[in-house]
Amino acid sequence: MRKVGIESLGFATAKNHITIEDLAIARGVNPEKYVIGLGQKEMAIATPCEDTVTMAAQAGLCALQNADIDPTSIDLLIVGTETGIDHSKPVASYVHELLGLSTNCRAIETKHACYGATGGLQFAIDRALSGRSRGKKSLIIASDIARYGIGTAGEPTQGAGAIAIIVSDEPRLVIIETGAEGIYSNQVMDFWRPLYRKEAVVDGHFSIQCYLDAIEGSYKNWQQSLVKSENKQLALTDIAACLYHIPFGKMANKAHMKHLDLIGINDKNVANEDYTLRVAPYLEFCSRVGNVYTGSLFLSLYNLMVDASKSFEGKSISMFSYGSGCMAEYFLATIPQNALKLPDFRPILDSRTQVDINEYERLLIANTNADQNDRVFKPEDWGVAENPFIFLGVNDHKRQYIKLP
Ligand code: HMG
Repeated sequence: MRKVGIESLGFATAKNHITIEDLAIARGVNPEKYVIGLGQKEMAIATPCEDTVTMAAQAGLCALQNADIDPTSIDLLIVGTETGIDHSKPVASYVHELLGLSTNCRAIETKHACYGATGGLQFAIDRALSGRSRGKKSLIIASDIARYGIGTAGEPTQGAGAIAIIVSDEPRLVIIETGAEGIYSNQVMDFWRPLYRKEAVVDGHFSIQCYLDAIEGSYKNWQQSLVKSENKQLALTDIAACLYHIPFGKMANKAHMKHLDLIGINDKNVANEDYTLRVAPYLEFCSRVGNVYTGSLFLSLYNLMVDASKSFEGKSISMFSYGSGCMAEYFLATIPQNALKLPDFRPILDSRTQVDINEYERLLIANTNADQNDRVFKPEDWGVAENPFIFLGVNDHKRQYIKLP
């Protein structure tokens, strides 16, 4: 069978962040609850000039540059997001223009909470496999700003960021295995973002249970389809790393325990050692930006490719994508020989501006109200004048973007 998959990845996040300890102190919570109990370190906070579009465009540009790909080779752009900016016009339409993509490129948006970009990825994989892409490439971008609001239980699990994935029949980074698929879909009210508000409504503890049920449902479906297609059972030793959707670091621990239980490993010590080996090393980037919703699984993949791509060549990893509401997918991917080396994102994370709680609250409120008509921003007032893509506000009901030369 032809090999198709990911040729490049790019990541972008907001310019400012707070430390999770500062947030805990401000809320009168023991910092250990957020740091150990949730597994978070820092949280990215967007300014009003940074939105779903600007982060998506920046991540897209980064993915093109990381693999030296000509934008004219892209003929499908899908932006997966749950932080929409218009009921009709897709984020992809603006990103298409900002990246200078061809007028012969499809540009659409997909949505199912944090699963939206995984859906886009799988459609692009099928397209590449079918031969209909005729040598062209697809650009799939996950872009979101997670908002729960000041003083809520979800507040320490906010974040902002975008990850861009270039899919082609030259999978220099990751081959997506298509022999078996694990799908799970179930209508549940665990988390949603009603049209009349920007912050999510969430039943936090129920959402954790829904996530774990979805691992079980998708893993069992994957196992059945694997047995049917190849008559093979999976041994954990076949998988070098297990990547999950990461709303907060500790969720990956809960997810892995469930995964191991399904594989038949219930000894706590063995399970803990396994988590330390196969999951924990790839949580750092997520712990420093927070929940980036659609992109979080792929941010963990970016982390793995930066830190371990060489030693993983020829090895398989498992990937679990979860979108509240809910839709989930379990699938395998393989790192090819001579995998593309991605630039480390740590220098960019280190260079962000750390803000205090007063500034964080000011940014959160300004960002939430940034879409009102006839409100125009000066990028220098928000410290983002040098960003490659800037949202200037809404003028005459039209969103205004600029791209720096
Ligand atoms: P909470 O109720 O405030 O926290 O909110 P808690 O009481 O459950 O405590 C959290 C953990 O800290 C617990 O660990 C405590 O024991 C521990 P656990 O028992 O679960 O292992 N803890 C401490 N540890 C060390 N020292 C201490 C201490 N005190 C307590 N002193 C909750 C937590 C996650 C519910 C909340 O933040 C929330 O609602 N977040 C948003 C929802 C969410 O992230 N859900 C995850 C699953 S759904 C999903 O992933 C989809 C999503 O990304 C959206 C989408 O798909 O679009 C959210």
